[in-house]
Parts: sequence; C-alpha cells; structure tokens
Amino acid sequence: MQRKDVFVSEEELKRQKEFVQQVRGLYAEKGKTPKALVETYGCQQNENDSERIKGMLSEMGFAFTDSREDADFILFNTCAVREGAEMRVLGNVGALKHLKARRPDLIVGICGCMMQQEHMVKKLKSKYKHVSVIFGTHSLYQFPEILYKAVCKNERVISLIDSEGRIAEDIPVYRENTASAWVSIMYGCNNFCSYCIVPYVRGRERSREPEKILEEIKSLAQNGVKEITLLGQNVNSYGKDLDRNVDFADLLLLADKVSGIRRIRFMTSHPKDMTDKLIETLPKVKKLCDQIHLPFQAGSDRILEKMNRRYTKEGYIHLVERIRTAMPNAVFTTDIIVGFPGESKEDFNETIDVLKRVRFDSVFSFIYSKREGTPAAKMPNQVPEDLKHKHFDELLDVQNKISREINETYDGKTVEIMVEGLSKTNETMMCGRTSGGKIVNFPKDDALSAGDFVHVKITKISTWSLTGERV
Ligand code: 5AD
Ligand code: SF4
Repeated sequence: MQRKDVFVSEEELKRQKEFVQQVRGLYAEKGKTPKALVETYGCQQNENDSERIKGMLSEMGFAFTDSREDADFILFNTCAVREGAEMRVLGNVGALKHLKARRPDLIVGICGCMMQQEHMVKKLKSKYKHVSVIFGTHSLYQFPEILYKAVCKNERVISLIDSEGRIAEDIPVYRENTASAWVSIMYGCNNFCSYCIVPYVRGRERSREPEKILEEIKSLAQNGVKEITLLGQNVNSYGKDLDRNVDFADLLLLADKVSGIRRIRFMTSHPKDMTDKLIETLPKVKKLCDQIHLPFQAGSDRILEKMNRRYTKEGYIHLVERIRTAMPNAVFTTDIIVGFPGESKEDFNETIDVLKRVRFDSVFSFIYSKREGTPAAKMPNQVPEDLKHKHFDELLDVQNKISREINETYDGKTVEIMVEGLSKTNETMMCGRTSGGKIVNFPKDDALSAGDFVHVKITKISTWSLTGERV
C-alpha cells in the first residue's frame, strides 16, 4: 500500500464532520442534551480510542454520565486479548436487555477489537438484538455517520471494514486527565506472536507522521499537560513504514524539545526491536522517565520460540543489563504469560528464574487464553486450567516478595512525584507517581492539583505503593 493511502482522506473526514452536525441537530430538535456512557476495556490504546470517541460525542453535543439509567447512548469499547475480558463485556451487554426494553430510545453500541472478529459479530447479531451500533477499530472515524443512522432511522448499523486499517488524523480527543496524556504514535502490530489476536484485529503497523505527533504534544503542553506517554503495540518499530528518515529514537529526541512537557514515558517495547541506537539515545532524552516496560512473556527458549518472540532468555537478560547501564535508575516492569501450550514445570521455572535475576519492580502476569484464529490455539498440549492457576499463584508469590523488597529500599528516601489527585481509597490522602511510575500517597493538601511536582519523604511501604510526608 502506498503511504498516502494509509490515511483516511480529507473528504471522508469532512463528510464525517457533517454527520457530527446532523446528530447535533437531531438532539437539538428534541430539545435535550443527550448523555453518553463509554465503558472501556483493555489497553491504553483502547483508552485513547475511547477518548477520541468521546471527543466526537462531545462535538455532537453529548454530555457524559457514569449512570446507565441516565444514559441515552451506552457504548462498550472492547478488548479481545483474553477470553475473560470478552466474557465480561458480553455479560455487561446482556444485562442491558431489560433497560433497553424499558427505554426503547436507549442506543446500545459495541466497538473495538472484539468487533474485528467475524465470529463475535455473528454472535452479537443473532443473540444480542438490543445492540444497535456495531463497529470495529478500523471504522472508528466513521462513528458520526454510524450514530446518525442509528439515532435518525432507529435501525441497526454495522460497520466493519475488512482492510488493514488506516490512520485518521485530527479527530477531536476528549481527555479527562488534565496533567497526563496518552499520545498514540502508531497503530497495529506486525509481530504475530503466536498467542496474540492483536495483529488480526488492529491490522498492520502504521506510524503517524512525526509532525502530527509533535503538533499534538505541543497542543497538549499549551493546555497544561505535563506528562505524555507515547503509545503503540511496539513503539520500537516506529517509523519503519514511513518513507522518511525518522525512527523511535529520533522521535523521543524531538518530543524532548517540547517546552511545558516535563515527563515522557512510552509503551510497549518489543525486546527484539531495542536497537543499540535507541539504548544510546535513552539517557539523552532529558525528560524521559526512569521506567521501562519490556514484556518478556516466558523464560524458556523453547516456549519463546513457539511464541514467535524472536529472542532468547539470555538475550533478554543481557538487554536489560545494557539498558540498566544506560539508565541506572530505571524501574523495570514486564508482561508474562503463564501456561502457554506445552509449557512444562521446567519451562515455567525458567520464567521464575528471569523474575529472580532481573528483579522487576512489578509484573503484569496473565494466564494463557486460547484465541481463535491464532497459531497457538491449534498447538497440542494445551495446559490444564488447574496447572495454569497453580503456576500463576506461584509466580505471584515470588514477584510480590521481590516487589516488596524493592519498595523497602525506598524507606526514608525522598522522591519527587507528580501529583495525580485524590487517593481513591482514602479521602484524607492524595497520590502521585515517581519518575519510575511508583504510586506514592501523602496527606491531602487543597493547594495542590494534578500536574504539580512535590517532594515526599517515604515513611511507609507496601507491595503496591509507597506512603510519605511532604518535605
Ligand atoms: N493469553 C494471555 N495473555 C495474552 N497476552 C496477549 N495475548 C494473550 C493471550 N492469548 C498478554 C501479553 C501481552 C499483554 C498485553 O497481554 O502478555 O504483552
Ligand atoms: Fe501481540 Fe506480540 Fe504484537 Fe504485542 S508484539 S501486540 S504480544 S503480537
């Protein structure tokens, strides 16, 4: 595909803007401010997509609510990475049947990764008749047209684009968080890890033009945002599809120059694409946070090969050492899958060995979930559920001990944090994060707001967070 064809055309985007106005008009005629509830599942990419959907809804005149009873439009932005997330969505959508029966005007919609799977759309069409809006990730930019048809004609609208996915620029973004923002730098994934559905539902890798990304970051900075997280399924391959001479290391240096931004994070990185150039660049990016999220997925070379990860256990550990040399204070986090087909006790022990040798600050561990359409789903020796759970619990025990030990080293130290807001669990406390991404709680101060930087002396630690007093 030629680069220019990767973009949704300006005419198409203009056409969608007209639908935005038409939906606005429809509700204005009814003399009411419609309310929307967007429920998001899955990764930050999905969160960012929801922010774009809410941006469009806001332009269409919608206000937002957390209450299903209050909402005129309820949309589920779904995740297909694991079966558990899919089941939760289906349960929640199913539970709306009664509400829809009571309030026929209510529009229920489902979008996102689950809707890029044919079998799932089929299921929704036949069994979830109260759902009237269905669209996949590739159709996101058509949302105004889809909603217009659903509201105006009160008919079921299904939009599924069977292509590799394109880039739609300049869609408005509605961000609730005033201090931190996600910035998607690329979409899709080319890696085809054998367990993963993402390349099938999100399409091939496509990078945004660097100018567009920088424009967005500058505008965020002007609006008071202090921290950005550059997002992509594999940010390390940013720029490979551009006919320009710019890669992820270059992009980091460009983002570093935007005044007003004080912290830069990125996720996710694939170990196989961490180039020497990128490692050498990391310490030169002045605003880069001391945090590296580097999924290793499994410790056994045999399993890594079956996963199609294209690195070895020792290669991964060596990579961590090289990054640590470049960034001595880096906090490492990772993703791990337990119970990939054929994973034996010996294989699993290799995963535990990586945990003990690298000593991650925290890990995101997942029980392997069979995904229809991926190569791993057809592999022999699927691991029984009880064994997967047993290994999963064992892994958590090992990691919780390490996380706690690492957190104990913070006792008595003073850290700089960016304030995020009130603590969610204790109304007398506020919380923020260190450069390494650790959550720090401290006594509430009404003079502080999100995006302020303060120093806190740590006085209490737990496995998941730190607590202290301002100094
Ligand atoms: N089963 C379990 N975990 C998975 N992940 C991706 N696909 C699967 C699957 N089929 C995990 C990986 C990835 C994270 C986002 O989700 O660890 O890094
Ligand atoms: Fe999935 Fe692998 Fe791509 Fe990550 S890199 S999204 S795990 S295929």
